[in-house]
Amino acid sequence: MAREKWGTKLGFMLAAMGSAVGLGNIWRFSFVAGNNGGGAFLILYLAFVLLIGVPLLLTEVSIGRKAESDVVGSFQKLAPRTPWYLTGFFGIASAFLILSFYAVVAGWAIFYLWNYINGSFFTSPEVGYDGAFGQFISHSWHPIAWTAFFMILTIVIVLSGVKKGIEGANKIFMPLLALILIGLAFFSLSLDGAAEGVRFLFQPNWAAFSEPSIYIAALGQAFFSLSLGMGAMLTYGSYLRKENKLPSAALGIGIMDTFFAIISGLVIFPAVFAFGIDPSSGPPLVFITLPSIFEQMPFGGMIGMVFFFALVLASLSSSVSILEVPTAFFMRIFGWSRFATSVLMGSIMFVMGIGVSLGFGIWSGVTPIGERNILDSMDYIASNILLPLGGLSMALLMGWYLKRSVALEATDLTRSPLGSLWYFIVKFVAPVLILLIFLNKIGLFL
Ligand code: TRP
Repeated sequence: MAREKWGTKLGFMLAAMGSAVGLGNIWRFSFVAGNNGGGAFLILYLAFVLLIGVPLLLTEVSIGRKAESDVVGSFQKLAPRTPWYLTGFFGIASAFLILSFYAVVAGWAIFYLWNYINGSFFTSPEVGYDGAFGQFISHSWHPIAWTAFFMILTIVIVLSGVKKGIEGANKIFMPLLALILIGLAFFSLSLDGAAEGVRFLFQPNWAAFSEPSIYIAALGQAFFSLSLGMGAMLTYGSYLRKENKLPSAALGIGIMDTFFAIISGLVIFPAVFAFGIDPSSGPPLVFITLPSIFEQMPFGGMIGMVFFFALVLASLSSSVSILEVPTAFFMRIFGWSRFATSVLMGSIMFVMGIGVSLGFGIWSGVTPIGERNILDSMDYIASNILLPLGGLSMALLMGWYLKRSVALEATDLTRSPLGSLWYFIVKFVAPVLILLIFLNKIGLFL
């Protein structure tokens, strides 16, 4: 059976932007920035996106387009008779880890959407939004039911196939989400005490740079937010036709993704300080902050409804790209149908998601890594370790295994003055930085 292809280059661009923009920009960016001191984190994050993220994005998509296979098969094709393909399993593993918590958080977002639709969030609940959220996520099965709902939506899109399922949905909702976020940022900035939030986000506390964990946090956030290192962008690239040009696409996706992150920072942090919320509240941060903003706004109930609707759609266009990674792989090796494979993979992730959800209830005492609960532990392993390792492997393949001329051709950079810059980054800068950050975190120096 012939592999599927995107309808148009625009279709690919929208799907790749849809993959990049999601809960990572709004939910994850806010709490990771909040936990890591704000401004110093933002500088590192921006530096990593530009210096490592965009070049690696180009690398990853090009590998997929050249090899026309999934994350494991692409390594097998481009580096035959080497063990390189084994690093593809980092990508498969991170897909399972990430989607099983992603679906839980997206389930929370659908629950919020439902509360705006039925009117219960139009006025502050008796226990406050903080209390209402805490009660909800610690409930034994309510959040799990919303997770199931989100997972079913994801599976349905993936099983309808690349073009029909994934390409269509993004065209309307990305612009809508951008418009709402910009509007919200203006409102949030007009709140009393907003200036402190702006300062938190943009004014770096220089002492924070001496903390090793901030580097790995910023690197992990850059990978997560750009959907890098798992093979999601690689798999999307494998559905591209050869004639599509890639460097401008990679830059466009990077700029778009960063824009969404900064705007959501401008929504969240002014409100965090205006409402006296702790910026290091962790994963619940946006779920406490946003309803407080909507409550104060004229037509806040309506806006809240549209906002969560757009957020759910943005999450769906990301989650499908994650489910597509193991789906493409298992379809190829076992020859299963797209239908059976996506249902099976999605179901396994859902079962893992039950554990994540219980981590906020009866299993809240379970802390696999340090102080981290189940969600944070899975996120840490996947985003801060497996994704950068996957990206490192792709960079080494391009920079050291393939010939320079082959690498430049694969990325459409043969005749571009940017070719040498990209090659230098992929060959030296990105691998060295990723390794330094790992060694630094393990405490080998500093
Ligand atoms: N980037 C998405 C977000 O910000 C999440 C995501 C989709 C992802 N595909 C990925 C993260 C692949 C890592 C790897 O919400």
